[in-house]
Amino acid sequence: MNNVAIFASGSGSNAENLVRFFASNPQFCFPLILSNSTKAYVLERATKLNIPSITFTRDEFYNSHKINDILIQHQINSIILAGFLWLVPPYLIDAYPQRIVNIHPALLPKYGGKGMYGMNVHQAVKDNKDTETGITVHYVNHEYDKGSIIKQVSCKIEPQDNPETIAEKVHQLEYEHFPKIIESIWG
Ligand code: GAR
Repeated sequence: MNNVAIFASGSGSNAENLVRFFASNPQFCFPLILSNSTKAYVLERATKLNIPSITFTRDEFYNSHKINDILIQHQINSIILAGFLWLVPPYLIDAYPQRIVNIHPALLPKYGGKGMYGMNVHQAVKDNKDTETGITVHYVNHEYDKGSIIKQVSCKIEPQDNPETIAEKVHQLEYEHFPKIIESIWG
């Protein structure tokens, strides 16, 4: 049984897509959505999906037991980062070995690391005139975007693509493949 906590910082469209994908799969339960932002749209999605959500400050995340305690209370055994922008602290990496998975909107090791998220990534891909991009799903370790890669899926970029259309292509890849990749490792 996978009791999965989703961490998200923004819109949460991947979070919602994951929850909907696994709605009829009894092996997956999503008891909690967590965010570092009280303004994140993912919180509204959580309400709509009937999933409890909590937010936390930087100090609570890095300098307290709050998040660990909450995860234990909810019997969380797996974590998915779906557009979560903060570095995961060592106490969580150590508590969930190979049980924290992140999605990155590019083909790592390209365009990874601190500050490389969302549109920053797609803008860099465009600036470099790359002819392909994609998604990387990987385990999370102590460094941004450096954990071992589980799967990558690519898509073509046409010369007329701009950062917005690249983002749209990447999001489509995410919606199609991310839940299936999770199912393949934890299903
Ligand atoms: C997604 O494209 C995800 O890959 C990316 O943020 C977006 C969140 O969209 N994650 C990163 O850039 C992490 N470095 P969403 O909130 O609509 O799911």
